[in-house]
Amino acid sequence: MTATVQIFPTGEDVAAAAARRLAALAGAAVSARGRCLICLAGGTTPRALHRMLAGDLWRSRIPWNACHIFWGDDRCVPPTDPGSNYGQAQVDLLSKVPVPAAHIHRVMGELEPAAAATSYAAELAFLAPAGQAWPAFDLVFLGLGRDGHTASLFPGERAPDEATAATLAVNADYEGRPAERVTLTPAVFNAARQVVFLVTGSAKAKAVAATLADGADPGRWPARRITPTGGPATWMLDQAAAAGLT
Ligand code: 6PG
Repeated sequence: MTATVQIFPTGEDVAAAAARRLAALAGAAVSARGRCLICLAGGTTPRALHRMLAGDLWRSRIPWNACHIFWGDDRCVPPTDPGSNYGQAQVDLLSKVPVPAAHIHRVMGELEPAAAATSYAAELAFLAPAGQAWPAFDLVFLGLGRDGHTASLFPGERAPDEATAATLAVNADYEGRPAERVTLTPAVFNAARQVVFLVTGSAKAKAVAATLADGADPGRWPARRITPTGGPATWMLDQAAAAGLT
């Protein structure tokens, strides 16, 4: 798997680089296609980016009114639950920038997982070109768990329909977080124009090194399955998360 690795001193530097990447491509996407489709990562790492984008330096540099927001995955909890990736982004970013409410496409975590997955796939299809099941995201942000999972694609056997489905309902235990989840699939991520992994902290160093190692098993290291047709994924790392790279 080819990947572009960018290493920064701190997590704040990673967030600033991600903000610059988003600002640059959002303007180009809106000029070219009238909209920018963004897929946010969940978990704690992206909070620094989300808060930075809501701040004075970046808030006015992104055409929020033409952006559509999705999540790579979310937990099957109500939107007000502390475990909701949507809820967290709403507090940190979306309540502070002018993204139209109709452009915020959350996983309906209050539904049963299978119903939430079906509903989320319909949200994607609504923005897809005729005859296709999902659009090409302009930018997908992804994280990486200490166990190597990304979005809610966890190590181990793959879902039978992972290669063809847009969304999957997943049950996985990780660090006491809500186990029932809905995730986008590698097929959706790989249709993106750009994919950026944001990974910080020493706790991720082993998973980063193992995932990026030559010949790593995509079954054990699911981020290996993210091979965007638009070009190699970019891995934005702080020095701590990059410590295991040779
Ligand atoms: C989630 C995320 C998940 C996350 C990793 C890393 O819903 O939990 O989408 O894939 O990116 O677990 O999480 P941290 O950034 O909190 O370490």
